[in-house]
Amino acid sequence: MAAFDFNETQPPSQPVQLAVAVVEEIAAVRVDLEERLGPGVTSFERIEDVLPRLNGSPVVVVLGPSCSSADVLATVERSLNGRPDVGAVLVADELSTTVLQLALRSGVKDVLTLQGDTLQIVEAIERVGSGLSTRTGPGPAAAAPATIGSDDGGLGRVTTVFSTKGGSGKSVLATNLAVVLAERAEGPVCLVDADLQFGDVAVMMKLAPTHTIVDAVSSIEQLDTSLLESLLSTHQASGLRVLPAPLEPAFADQIGAAEMVKIVEVLRRFCSHVVIDTPAYFNDVVLGLVEVSDDVLLVAGMDIPNIKNVKIGLQTLRLLNTPMEKLRLILNRANSKVKLDIGGVERTLQVTADALIPSDVVVPQSVNKGVPFVHSHPKSGVAKAVRALADKLTDSEAESRRKRG
Ligand SMILES: Nc1ncnc2c1ncn2[C@@H]1O[C@H](COP(=O)(O)OP(=O)(O)O)[C@@H](O)[C@H]1O
Ligand SMILES: [Mg+2]
Repeated sequence: MAAFDFNETQPPSQPVQLAVAVVEEIAAVRVDLEERLGPGVTSFERIEDVLPRLNGSPVVVVLGPSCSSADVLATVERSLNGRPDVGAVLVADELSTTVLQLALRSGVKDVLTLQGDTLQIVEAIERVGSGLSTRTGPGPAAAAPATIGSDDGGLGRVTTVFSTKGGSGKSVLATNLAVVLAERAEGPVCLVDADLQFGDVAVMMKLAPTHTIVDAVSSIEQLDTSLLESLLSTHQASGLRVLPAPLEPAFADQIGAAEMVKIVEVLRRFCSHVVIDTPAYFNDVVLGLVEVSDDVLLVAGMDIPNIKNVKIGLQTLRLLNTPMEKLRLILNRANSKVKLDIGGVERTLQVTADALIPSDVVVPQSVNKGVPFVHSHPKSGVAKAVRALADKLTDSEAESRRKRG
């Protein structure tokens, strides 16, 4: 592992070096970890002390056992947020399910035990380090604003479909919206299934994928437009390109925000539009995707628990400084029958709905057939509502193109 001066900015011509920082409160354990990992490791007592010393070059933070508590991991989560240059592994006293879950939810990439083989820790550091990228600005959100349309060599528009509640209709909306966009756009349109554990886009579209996101991640260093294009499946009826979720939920842990963001950035180089389906919770992957998106469709089912969760989701997005212009509220199953007043919901959430999707039995029918409802029932109210949503997205695309001149 290369020695690294945390205070020195590296000249861009030098190959990227991997720095390693140990964070452990108890001195004896800290020294033990330092010695095991060898020269070039810098140690800190607290995670808060590490960040101010970073200069944007990749750093792997090795969290010692004192970092296993929920409190410290919450701080770790805040610190790692939006940092493609920083990756963390936790070396815990013992591997319990609780610690494992807490750590992975905080964005930690791997958890090992202090008693285990040092070689395993070194390998984990190298694996995490290989997925990091240099941070050039204050974070991915500050990347240059996207231009639209691959025809002029610009970047495709990225739309993330998100909701803080499972079953709210993200996947059906993402698939049907992507199909409509694919049939309209000049260039390719790609649907990415970023519900890494339980993604069901492939099933909803009756695809039998040969490749998934796992293949894209395993060649992340070499990933360019032609390699990525060769990994996509095609939905024959619409021409939509699809990057499916891993086939095994266990693979999800290997995929971090930096990798997902890189995949989307390569996709938008050759696609007119990239639509992303997500899981029903915030994690570092979702946050990274929200940051690179032009539109974030927040899907809310029309019942009180859904609205409560969307309210919390909106607050979280605001706390994370997500520009509110990106957000579009989509009310799903918005019929008079559900007896929840749309105006009231909008007032509660302080956001106006951009789309009202009715509840319709053709939706579960089409899901079970594996045919998007915009194809199986093009005249249904749900299909019309999704086409109207696609109009709004393409209108605002044209609008931003006009503004750019
Ligand atoms: N507008 C709707 N009308 C009827 N059923 C719907 C509607 N939207 C979603 N559903 C049903 O709800 C279930 C969950 O939808 P899904 O898209 O998988 O949710 P999520 O991806 O948010 O977990 C699906 O079986 C789908 O058929
Ligand atoms: Mg889903």
